[in-house]
Amino acid sequence: MKFSQVAFPLLGVFASCVGALSDASIVSGAYIVELNGEDDASSLYDELRANAIEVQHRKNLNYKLFKGASFRVSNVTESEAEAIKNQIFGKSQVKNIWPVRKIQFPQPTPISTGGNSTSAAAAANAFLKRQTNENDTFTPHVMTQVNKLRAEGITGKGIKIGVVDTGVDYTHPALGGCFGPGCAISYGYDLTGDDYVSDTDEPIPDPDPLDTCQGHGTHVTGIIMANSKELDFTGAAPDVTLGMYKVSSCAGYTTNDILIQAFNQAFEEGSDVISCSVGDDSGWATDVWAEAASRIADAGVAVVVALGNSGSLGMWAAASPASGSSVVAVGSVDNTVLPRILAGASYSVDGNDPAAFGWYNGYPSLIDAEVTFSLWLMPNGTASAGACEPLSDDTPDLSDSLVLLKLSLACPADQQAANIVAKGGQYLMFYPELQHDFSNIYIYTDGIKGAGILSPAQGLAFVDLLSTGENITVTLKPPNESDPFVENLSNGQNAGYTAASSSWGPTWEVEIKPQFTAPGGMILSTYPMNMGGYAVLPGTSMATPLVAAVFALVGQARGTLDAKAIREVISATAKPLAWNDGTAAFDLPAPVAQQGAGMVQAYDAAHVVGIPSVSSFSFNDSDHFIASRSFSIKNTGTEEISYELGHTKSTTVYTFVPDVAPLTQARFPSPVADDWAELTFAADTVTIPAGSTAEISFTVAPPSGLNSTLLPVYSGYLTLNGTNGETLSLPYLGVLGSLHDTPVLQGGDNSGVYLSSTVTHFNIPVAANITFSIPRLGSNSTATDTVWPKLLIIPTVGTKFLRVDVVPLSKTSLPTTKWLGYETVGQLPGSPRTYVARTGGTYTWGGWLADGTVVDEGGYVLVTSALKILGDEEKETDWDVVETVPFFLKYV
Ligand SMILES: *[C@@H]1O[C@H](CO)[C@@H](O)[C@H](O)[C@H]1NC(C)=O
Ligand SMILES: *[C@@H]1O[C@H](CO)[C@@H](O)[C@H](O)[C@H]1NC(C)=O
Ligand SMILES: *[C@@H]1O[C@H](CO)[C@@H](O)[C@H](O)[C@H]1NC(C)=O
Ligand SMILES: *[C@@H]1O[C@H](CO)[C@@H](O)[C@H](O)[C@H]1NC(C)=O
Ligand SMILES: *[C@@H]1O[C@H](CO)[C@@H](O)[C@H](O)[C@H]1NC(C)=O
Ligand SMILES: *[C@@H]1O[C@H](CO)[C@@H](O)[C@H](O)[C@H]1NC(C)=O
Ligand SMILES: *[C@@H]1O[C@H](CO)[C@@H](O)[C@H](O)[C@H]1NC(C)=O
Ligand SMILES: *[C@@H]1O[C@H](CO)[C@@H](O)[C@H](O)[C@H]1NC(C)=O
Ligand SMILES: *[C@@H]1O[C@H](CO)[C@@H](O)[C@H](O)[C@H]1NC(C)=O
Repeated sequence: MKFSQVAFPLLGVFASCVGALSDASIVSGAYIVELNGEDDASSLYDELRANAIEVQHRKNLNYKLFKGASFRVSNVTESEAEAIKNQIFGKSQVKNIWPVRKIQFPQPTPISTGGNSTSAAAAANAFLKRQTNENDTFTPHVMTQVNKLRAEGITGKGIKIGVVDTGVDYTHPALGGCFGPGCAISYGYDLTGDDYVSDTDEPIPDPDPLDTCQGHGTHVTGIIMANSKELDFTGAAPDVTLGMYKVSSCAGYTTNDILIQAFNQAFEEGSDVISCSVGDDSGWATDVWAEAASRIADAGVAVVVALGNSGSLGMWAAASPASGSSVVAVGSVDNTVLPRILAGASYSVDGNDPAAFGWYNGYPSLIDAEVTFSLWLMPNGTASAGACEPLSDDTPDLSDSLVLLKLSLACPADQQAANIVAKGGQYLMFYPELQHDFSNIYIYTDGIKGAGILSPAQGLAFVDLLSTGENITVTLKPPNESDPFVENLSNGQNAGYTAASSSWGPTWEVEIKPQFTAPGGMILSTYPMNMGGYAVLPGTSMATPLVAAVFALVGQARGTLDAKAIREVISATAKPLAWNDGTAAFDLPAPVAQQGAGMVQAYDAAHVVGIPSVSSFSFNDSDHFIASRSFSIKNTGTEEISYELGHTKSTTVYTFVPDVAPLTQARFPSPVADDWAELTFAADTVTIPAGSTAEISFTVAPPSGLNSTLLPVYSGYLTLNGTNGETLSLPYLGVLGSLHDTPVLQGGDNSGVYLSSTVTHFNIPVAANITFSIPRLGSNSTATDTVWPKLLIIPTVGTKFLRVDVVPLSKTSLPTTKWLGYETVGQLPGSPRTYVARTGGTYTWGGWLADGTVVDEGGYVLVTSALKILGDEEKETDWDVVETVPFFLKYV
């Protein structure tokens, strides 16, 4: 599995779980309540206890922007807890209630890390003078104009960024080496302690956010403010004051009540920007953590959050809390290069000044002490297939040379080695033809004392020098004594384009997500010292801190820290990137659902003088479409500006795969449609005197030739080309068709909701009237030939409410209630579920209900109902209902 797919936790999806319609991401029986008024939760607890409900307090959430608490009802089954939830919601003190969710930070699996030597070199270079205005050639900075802004001396000085992550190894010399007042990482907190691994553990907070075991937060921190002498790069805003709110242990486990605490603490302790690189795939903007984050942003502090690495799922997969209305959701662009951390060495051409290069040691280890070799090239130049054939008679004695040879695709490396040994050779330096093969080399041929490998580019560079007759000597040290060396390799055909793994919006409320993108695909940054000191990691996790740093830089340059103001200038100046579907790049920009406003351009954002009053337009779906729009633009400059108004259409994509029944969500790359919206401006140009504001009106005609059943999502950019040389662009997005009328559940053949069994391969549907044999709950049955009913639910789109009812086919001893015309004995355990993503899942049923009741033997159907998007719970026609085939239940 590619790292990009596991880098971001895919929680919040249904999990397969025997016995319950259970959501593995929920801590059972645990809730977050928001309270009315100024009271704490004690009166609520008293009332619950008076009703014989045992309450374990979890967290005080007593903040300026969120007053509530979290707790767990401790002596009830999961199913009883559901009933209690409704009881709590009915209490006068309670404004709202949400389940406590588990969130998992991924254990990073770096593409490349430093070795022990890197840490040693880092330690040796500790506390060198910080230099922050040097010529910045770090590619993520060049891609985002951070280098240009840094050249003006903008370093984020005086601005506080609060990072919510796994902690940080602040002992790293590139991160300042210390924690607390006066240090570069000067504030923050550990909300969990190191041993917190599951919901059965108590978090044990302490004031020290040190992480020496997880790594994610140390990498994120370095992207913001590292100053690495030994690898010659800095974070984007090296002079910011950083706060680290550590929300997980080494295991990366945390919960949304802890995250809400961390966000609010970061806010109340004066952070100007909050950066967070975790979330859970939800698709909905309305969720407690997203809402808490959004309130902080509405209070003026930028909240910058990763949108997720579920790009493969296609559209409508925004993670929470990036999905929050006012939260800045960040997508990822693939770096223009793929950095690799190698062992550093030096070479000299004809005795001239040495230059550095990087290599990997192989087996046998090439050296155990510093040694200088002269490099000898196989006589056939670059075209040589290597030493697959015996070497010619005039080959000199090779015993003192380091033999440079291409790793052959035509014969085993050991055959090459044997032919070198025949001429006395003992030391080999391979280079592969393809970057893909640039990995460890193992040689077992007798007589070979050492082998190493170079990148294809470095190998060819040496070949070129040697074949023009130059003499090269190389000096190698044992890797654990070498300085680290970063070589930038090719990052593939997608380099510089929006990452295929970056999650897509919009939300089910048709809010634009992501807001912008930044380089996140293969980023070099700091790592805990004991884990190599440096690492290269991919994902929106890495793009997010860069955007947070850009907020700090732009804020410093413009002299405002107002989240909305900075967001508007970054959005207006971001650079839309061309669509790349994973195999090729196209002329049109990528869909706004994938890239938002485009890749951030820090310098332009810091200097732009025309400030639009909005950062994007959502035209919503056809039901809510309003054709006439307007916004204003303020000229904050000293000269009059005329803007020429224009429109750049971007790629239109379908939500559902065309010509496939039933409706099936397209995965990446979404199918493209050749029709676009037309924008008509009230005037072609607008002239704005210095210091004035002008209103700009336009009308939108959505594309007309597309099949709206497939929910095409059209998008593009309004452009304003100013006479002052500035080009502003504002993204828009709209959905053709009705989200409300789109089925959530589809029945029938090949449907998204059907019954299978625990012994059926590939979840094939079962025939009607089969009998399932299962043990009765609480019995001591030892039956081994059990077959359980398994319900599959793959919703077409997300839903705010999903429930599954058990409906008997004939008379039962249990009381029934009416639900949408069915006589139900109750719901499956874990039902109902709220804010359900569209990813779907399977549920194995064990014969008992949400309230713990065991049903009689007999015939049943399972009735799944889901509320349509924007549907009204009270209206029967707003529910989609699918019943399974009838089946029989028998206890064995
Ligand atoms: C929960 O605990 C309380 C107090 O200990 C007790 O009265 C009540 O019956 C228990 N409820 C359940 C469902 O076990
Ligand atoms: C790094 O150091 C640790 C502990 O000293 C050791 O176990 C490990 O093998 C070393 N790794 C390398 C690559 O030298
Ligand atoms: C910065 O480095 C780049 C790339 O090496 C070079 O093209 C540019 O001229 C340098 N700029 C300055 C101001 O040194
Ligand atoms: C040089 O390389 C070419 C192409 O691999 C091969 O055909 C030829 O035999 C080689 N010549 C010598 C002298 O090794
Ligand atoms: C390389 O070394 C050889 C042998 O020492 C010498 O004959 C030759 O002139 C050198 N080549 C150059 C370009 O210095
Ligand atoms: C505005 O400038 C951009 C970039 O220079 C260009 O692609 C676009 O065509 C211009 N639009 C108008 C309306 O002139
Ligand atoms: C639109 O797409 C739906 C779903 O695939 C299909 O049933 C319908 O026939 C299509 N309509 C047209 C006019 O092609
Ligand atoms: C299933 O059984 C019911 C009643 O037992 C019967 O009416 C129905 O026709 C059966 N369905 C199938 C597909 O055999
Ligand atoms: C199951 O076994 C336990 C102990 O072996 C016994 O106490 C209990 O009564 C049994 N339950 C049933 C339903 O047979």
